[in-house]
Amino acid sequence: MRQKRARRFLDSEGLRNCAGAVALALGLWLMLPSGGLFAWDALLAKATVLVVIGFGGQLLIRVAAAEREAGSVVWLLMLCMALLSLLTVRAVAWLPGTYPQDWLGPHAMLFYAPHAFAPLLVAMLYGGQLAMVIGLIAGVALAMSAEGSLGVLLLSLCASAVAAREAPRLRHRMQILRALARIALWQTPIVLVIAVLSAHRESLLTVALQLAALYLMLLLSGMAVIWVLPLAERATGRTSQITLNYFADLGHPLLHRMALEAPGTYHHSMVVADLAQTAAEAVGANGLLARVGGYYHDIGKLSRPEFYMENQLCAGSPHDALPPNISRMIIVNHVKEGICLGRLHRLPPPLMHMIARHHGTSVIRWFHHKAMTQAAGQTDERATEAEESHYRYAGPLPESKEATIVALADAIEAASRSLEKVTPARIESLVASVVEAKWLDGQFDRSELSNAELCAVRKSFVFTLTHLLHSRLAYPLDDQNRDTEPATEVPDEPAVPS
Ligand SMILES: [Fe+2]
Ligand SMILES: [Fe+2]
Repeated sequence: MRQKRARRFLDSEGLRNCAGAVALALGLWLMLPSGGLFAWDALLAKATVLVVIGFGGQLLIRVAAAEREAGSVVWLLMLCMALLSLLTVRAVAWLPGTYPQDWLGPHAMLFYAPHAFAPLLVAMLYGGQLAMVIGLIAGVALAMSAEGSLGVLLLSLCASAVAAREAPRLRHRMQILRALARIALWQTPIVLVIAVLSAHRESLLTVALQLAALYLMLLLSGMAVIWVLPLAERATGRTSQITLNYFADLGHPLLHRMALEAPGTYHHSMVVADLAQTAAEAVGANGLLARVGGYYHDIGKLSRPEFYMENQLCAGSPHDALPPNISRMIIVNHVKEGICLGRLHRLPPPLMHMIARHHGTSVIRWFHHKAMTQAAGQTDERATEAEESHYRYAGPLPESKEATIVALADAIEAASRSLEKVTPARIESLVASVVEAKWLDGQFDRSELSNAELCAVRKSFVFTLTHLLHSRLAYPLDDQNRDTEPATEVPDEPAVPS
């Protein structure tokens, strides 16, 4: 509730206008011309540029980020980044006893501006496209405060382009150093060109100091990104690859507990993770997110692992002694239990999204069938209880590409356990029938996956499953074993939900 109210506040038009006005005032103050408030013509010109940057930035963000959530939150982020970059530059000039021009020449500001900070942070949270847009906006704002210097803009664009390419792939904090080294590699020739073209003949020592200042500022920007990242993740609700990688550790307490208390579910989750990662990468979605989603999607089963088929040994199922209605309640409850456990362990929002939606509103076929059998020839009340709608999960439906892929991988892995004879043709038929059943049941109605992507996901599942079940493959030894017909006993849905 509190989160919804905060989101509504962030999306409100009033907040956007207030933030815009405050940003304009702050920006003007930071870019104050040398004549102060009395140089009104310069002040007016800079105010106009700031307004143009603000509105132009909004338009660019809408074009670059078609995502629903990337609206005002990103716009606020853009303002913060531009102002923070300006503030850093001003802060160096305000430090008592610092005269950077004495050491770095008249264009000193070129070299101690935090070019990499904004694009690196944004690329890690929102991806490369938005990082380019925000890097461009921060670069223009910086250039304006440096009397329209083209050098500042060039260095900023260079940092943005490299950060946009590198940052979304960073999985460890130390890999930020690698991205910074690449930015430095691209920025160095620009500094040398600026030195050669400069009207003031700069000595080799000055150029060396300029490069040293640039590298030092890059390093400080990287450290600031590491420090600010957790706060930025909390503020924006986004999750970086670095955080996801932390949750991908199989030594995480939840996964370790699952391995000991629900080994069948643990194995199922590992296979789902393999299927989901390969399929997500095949359609350009986030493979690591799909993998980690596969690991955690069934953590809710930890409260009663013995009620799930994959954890039952030879002793029989506890469901045999229960009416189907009670079994349904226990099974459906694993989604709610998963959400509670996820909150307790502070799982990031995309993983919570997958836990809540991995069954969508699908039917628990096994217990529905059992209820139908028991209700045959019974009273109207029993017949109503056996209705299909009564045996559906509460939803909601999966929305993101990764959540849809995990939901599909989950159903396919569970269904693959019922294959008596494993052959490539039967695997293909099983995958096709599960995807078709989900499609006809409306489980993809809110999914971001296109038809072409769904087709690629299906092919990826067939490929991965064939390799994962390699040891169970029944090779055609003779004509009797040769299997050219599609499987006939493929279930529409997993027999017992996983
Ligand atoms: Fe599952
Ligand atoms: Fe599940």
